[in-house]
Amino acid sequence: MALLSSSSSSSSSAKGIVVTVPVLVLLLSASAIFIFFLLSSLSSCSCPSPSAITTMNAAVAGGEGEASGRVEERLSPTIEDVEWVKDQIRINGLHMQDNVLRKGINPRTRAQQLEDLRKVVRNCGINLPGVCGSGLVSFDGYKGISHYEGDEANNHTALPCPGELLVEQHHSNYGEPWAGGRDVFEFLAESTHLTPDARVLEIGCGTLRVGLHFIRYLKPGHFHCLERDELSLMAAFRYELPSQGLLHKRPLIVKGEDMDFSRFGSGVVYDLIYASAVFLHMPDKLVWAGLERLVDKLKPYDGRIFVSHNIKFCSRLGGEECTKRLTSLGLEYIGKHTHDSLLFNHYEIWFEFRRTKA
Ligand SMILES: C[S@@+](CC[C@H](N)C(=O)[O-])C[C@H]1O[C@@H](n2cnc3c(N)ncnc32)[C@H](O)[C@@H]1O
Repeated sequence: MALLSSSSSSSSSAKGIVVTVPVLVLLLSASAIFIFFLLSSLSSCSCPSPSAITTMNAAVAGGEGEASGRVEERLSPTIEDVEWVKDQIRINGLHMQDNVLRKGINPRTRAQQLEDLRKVVRNCGINLPGVCGSGLVSFDGYKGISHYEGDEANNHTALPCPGELLVEQHHSNYGEPWAGGRDVFEFLAESTHLTPDARVLEIGCGTLRVGLHFIRYLKPGHFHCLERDELSLMAAFRYELPSQGLLHKRPLIVKGEDMDFSRFGSGVVYDLIYASAVFLHMPDKLVWAGLERLVDKLKPYDGRIFVSHNIKFCSRLGGEECTKRLTSLGLEYIGKHTHDSLLFNHYEIWFEFRRTKA
């Protein structure tokens, strides 16, 4: 027990410790300084927010592409994530600038870059259709810093890719920013609580604008796609998968336009089947034929079919007839969703279905 004394002279008592006023003042000052430093270190702590921790935990536990349980946490950015990036831009005083020639930066349009690539491509004789230009030999144009020339140009590229794909012309194929693919993935994967060991089928995956994100997230071989457009498939196989380091994910991508899913195997059961901006380009009859073939391949009750934009293939029949036709296939319409894009002014409408019988 501490006894207080108002005397400046200290005297000891046999039963306790006497603390003098100067000692007390010293003790209080030391405590105040300690508390001040403790509080200021807490307020300036760059520790992650609770939601960032849960997102990080999910990334560590599951990781995109790694095997783990259900997606317990979100894939899409949190409000804190968005605020954080806005803060970084503000703190660094960043504004959009014109992309002109400046020190160390030599901006080219896609068209200029393609022209440059063509100038350094010689009649290379590589035995892959569509790889080389038609015998064009002109090294006097722009060619960057390090290019092999002459016959050497033919010998060093393991997977030679056409210039059109290298300049990513196919990223503009659908008239909207390529970034929208991530929006679709986040929405579908979160809506269906997708796990990396789920199986997913995309009808009309095009250039893999959306599919890439699923392929990265899912286990090898778990992403399937039926696509009819040859150039899109070339972009997928010859540029997107190699450049994203996803060849090892072995997606099963099949060329076809008849809603024939026989090449995907008879035993496969999908957790998610989706068509992003595809059914509206198909004759209604073909959509129905496809759905009929797909019902047995959709996991009963828990599996989901998502269709974007509209379901005119059904509504054109009239509300009652549409429901009747779905029911006869063993499908149930669950509802309509709207999903906003993160990066640009755009929203997408999705229609959700499930299988009602085992
Ligand atoms: C607007 S693009 C969307 C591509 C992709 N789903 C995405 O969101 O990025 C429509 C795609 O559907 C494909 N498609 C249209 N009819 C098809 C059919 N009958 N069978 C397979 N694919 C088809 C087109 O070739 C095209 O790649």
